Amino acid sequence: MEALKVKGLSKNFGGLQVLQNVSFSMKPGEYLALIGPNGAGKTTLINVLSGELPPSRGDVSILGQNVTNMPVHKRLHLGLAYSFQLNNLFFNLSVMDNILLALQGKQPFRLQISQSIDSNNPRFIKVQKLMDSMGLWEKRSFPITSLSYGEQRMMEIALSLASDPMLLLLDEPSAGLSDSETNQLLAYIRNLPEETAVLFVSHDMDIVFDLADRIIVLSYGVLIAEGRPEEIQANPKVREIYFGGKESVQDTGSG
Ligand SMILES: Nc1ncnc2c1ncn2[C@@H]1O[C@H](COP(=O)(O)OP(=O)(O)O)[C@@H](O)[C@H]1O
Ligand SMILES: [Mg+2]
Repeated sequence: MEALKVKGLSKNFGGLQVLQNVSFSMKPGEYLALIGPNGAGKTTLINVLSGELPPSRGDVSILGQNVTNMPVHKRLHLGLAYSFQLNNLFFNLSVMDNILLALQGKQPFRLQISQSIDSNNPRFIKVQKLMDSMGLWEKRSFPITSLSYGEQRMMEIALSLASDPMLLLLDEPSAGLSDSETNQLLAYIRNLPEETAVLFVSHDMDIVFDLADRIIVLSYGVLIAEGRPEEIQANPKVREIYFGGKESVQDTGSG
């Protein structure tokens, strides 16, 4: 069974066609990089897959289940986890309250935070370990606003990793992180359970070529190429549309 199957997906914002008939799938355990120039529609695609945005046309299946019309929280129960390009934390709450909310899959405006989460809860223990290794556990009583941007990103990613997702969506996970935070993050992503499929957006080609089993390339909302990293690197269409044909994919470096 495929971890993710996307079929004929389109998304318009008014007259603007941001995604056009996008189709691809992912096997369990696969690391798939989504690349493309700024404005190509990468974030929009991630948001449609997570359920944050409805598609204009097409279908999305997660682990064999059609989720096209399924709200975010139900997708999360199926084993989806995601981390945004922008922070998705509740800034007026403490680090600990954010952890509790994330573990309970709750939104503060909908439900009260229950402080009664079992400290033997395996996910709680996992978050604790991840946050501890990130040096963040000692800051658990602090408000989110007292953390640096990099710490906020690391915390958000710790929360998405702790659920042992079957499908993890990461939109520019290393954005705003220092080199050492990025290296730490890559180690966590590499060490996910074997069956976890990871779809990630990155502008950093070192990260793309380090992690990806396969790469898909989006340009003006159209998937223009799909293949193993070495195939994408050699693809003339990718070099032309994405890099102006001047340099190789790897030579563009990070940015
Ligand atoms: N909510 C929105 N309303 C209107 N246009 C949008 C919206 N979100 C994104 N866009 C437009 O869609 C295009 C793709 O954006 P985005 O998905 O953020 O690209 P990427 O992540 O590849 O840089 C851009 O032209 C952007 O301006
Ligand atoms: Mg984006």
